[in-house]
Amino acid sequence: MTLSDGTCVLPQHIGIIMDGNGRWAKKRGMPRKLGHREGAAVFKRITDICNEIGIKYLTFYAFSTENRKRPEDEKNALMDLFDKYLTDVWEQVDKNVKLVFLGDKSYFSPSLREKMIRIEDESRSHIGMTLMIAMNYGGRDDIIYAAKKTAELVSSGYMKTEEITEDTFSDMLYTAGAPDVDLMIRTGGEYRLSNFLIWQCAYAEFYFTDVLWPDFDKAELDKALDSFASRKRRFGGV
Ligand code: IPE
Ligand code: IPE
Ligand code: MG
Repeated sequence: MTLSDGTCVLPQHIGIIMDGNGRWAKKRGMPRKLGHREGAAVFKRITDICNEIGIKYLTFYAFSTENRKRPEDEKNALMDLFDKYLTDVWEQVDKNVKLVFLGDKSYFSPSLREKMIRIEDESRSHIGMTLMIAMNYGGRDDIIYAAKKTAELVSSGYMKTEEITEDTFSDMLYTAGAPDVDLMIRTGGEYRLSNFLIWQCAYAEFYFTDVLWPDFDKAELDKALDSFASRKRRFGGV
């Protein structure tokens, strides 16, 4: 919602970089995978809160293309969590929520991949919040994938070069149909995007916090939303 003076009250699209799981576990002398387990529970709580307060698009960074270089046992623990949480979220989330997975699914096991595709198919017509989960996602990979799709359409005669615009190109991205990110939240104290939604964040407002993702809660979300509500978005105007 935008007020007449350009102040935005509630972001339409929130992106969240859930960082700090490993450090949260380390601080407690626990293995990193327990930090991820705690982080997954927080993911579910924050999803429910965003749905309740009327956020239309919510996108989480769950696993980046760069995270593929992590040790095998940590990746296996993450894959197990994805499997469990996709089932839980799908069974428990508001039945109007539409789920979309961003990224190259071919990286995942056939059973996880099938689950992702089934959830997307079954929720395609849902008209509530769109929940996007970036798994094996990279912003550069997203743009390359969109460029290849565009090139194929042009070379096969379905699209003209002049028809390549910001809008038509956006519709080739994994986030096709979703608006640009309004508010990007990153927990865990790092001030970077780490290759997340680089095209879609062209005019995003950023909110960074030192809070580690497993400690992120409604009060912390409220701080991010309050900060967003106080920003003046000019989009290059005066
Ligand atoms: C973010 O937490 C979750 C994933 C990347 C899957 P990290 O695992 O990066 O936690 P830190 O940054 O090492 O604390
Ligand atoms: C970003 O966190 C990726 C996810 C949260 C899934 P990282 O921990 O991988 O990012 P860097 O390595 O600190 O940039
Ligand atoms: Mg990290």
